[in-house]
Amino acid sequence: MQKETVKPIRSGEIWPDNQGVHINAHGGGMLYYKGTYYWYGENKSDSTSKAMVGIMCYSSQNLTDWKNEGTVLPVELNDTTSDIIQGCVMERPKVLYNAKTRKFVMWFHLELKGKGYAAARSAVAVSDSPTGPFQYLRSGRINPGILPFDMTAGQRSILDTLQPEHFREWWTPDWYKAVTEGLFLKRDLQGGQMARDMQLFVDDDGKAYHIYSSEDNLTLQIAELSEDYLSHTGKYARMAPAGHNEAPAIFKKDGIYWMITSGCTGWAPNEARMFSAPGIWGPWTQHPNPCIGPNAELTFGGQSTFVLKVPGKDNAYLFMADIWRPKKPSDARYIWLPIQFKNGIPYIEWMDSWTLDSFFE
Ligand code: GAL
Repeated sequence: MQKETVKPIRSGEIWPDNQGVHINAHGGGMLYYKGTYYWYGENKSDSTSKAMVGIMCYSSQNLTDWKNEGTVLPVELNDTTSDIIQGCVMERPKVLYNAKTRKFVMWFHLELKGKGYAAARSAVAVSDSPTGPFQYLRSGRINPGILPFDMTAGQRSILDTLQPEHFREWWTPDWYKAVTEGLFLKRDLQGGQMARDMQLFVDDDGKAYHIYSSEDNLTLQIAELSEDYLSHTGKYARMAPAGHNEAPAIFKKDGIYWMITSGCTGWAPNEARMFSAPGIWGPWTQHPNPCIGPNAELTFGGQSTFVLKVPGKDNAYLFMADIWRPKKPSDARYIWLPIQFKNGIPYIEWMDSWTLDSFFE
């Protein structure tokens, strides 16, 4: 048998797939299923960040050699009434396997063609196989008509007093206070909550959660998914209100939930943030930026997209981020770095080149 060579991971460089082509799976996420890793992400074209192709999948047994499995959820080319018509925005796809239904469930951030980022919808698709084809189901805002389950009577009565006409000017101290208290939550109550950058997380009990930048990207929300992962149950909570967090990536270690996010500066990198909580519903405490060393204040030029707990290995958590290239989106690069721990607190250090084996036992 041929001895497996351990390929180094070189963040920021071109990552060829099995056909020698730079992997095109941005804003991605990883699913481990029956011994294979499946990497799902946005196909980016040379000239636009809009969805011209759809959601890609690559597969690997070792996290370093990637086979292009093709477009598992293609954009619609002809039906102009479709939500996913070519030229829409399909971002940050994440896929879960549901053991009860034996289906693969994909959620992603959808913006309708020609409407900028105003729709702020979540979309769901389903497949019998990890490599698709995924059947597109629907898109929408989240949990219309429902308030966060953990809002106290006092918080609800403050919400009642918030009047949009008093807060026309953004970014003032009063406006921040009102956003914290739920100004946008209330505005969107009837039609459902906005959802842009997003993540999925399955807890040890099999329950799945959808985490997304809501309320005009000012506040994260965490929403429980139904048993089949295809819809929301109506139970949700707000996190870091008015904290302006995007790009949530979450993992759990020794009973503690950790979330790494970014600030909101579009395609330009900014400083990562980190939070921890004893349970998915919080309370979430903010920590310093987990990145350390040169360029840590810009997350090494990247923006978080996923944390993979490497299955079968203790203390093996892989931080995944995107280096966006808005002028030539297909040339965007990947950052993969091991999450290290000091006194139980995660930190991330840049490495030009490292091997999975040297970090993950
Ligand atoms: C980023 C976000 C990306 C994409 C981009 C559009 O902040 O994380 O997923 O939506 O904005 O400008």
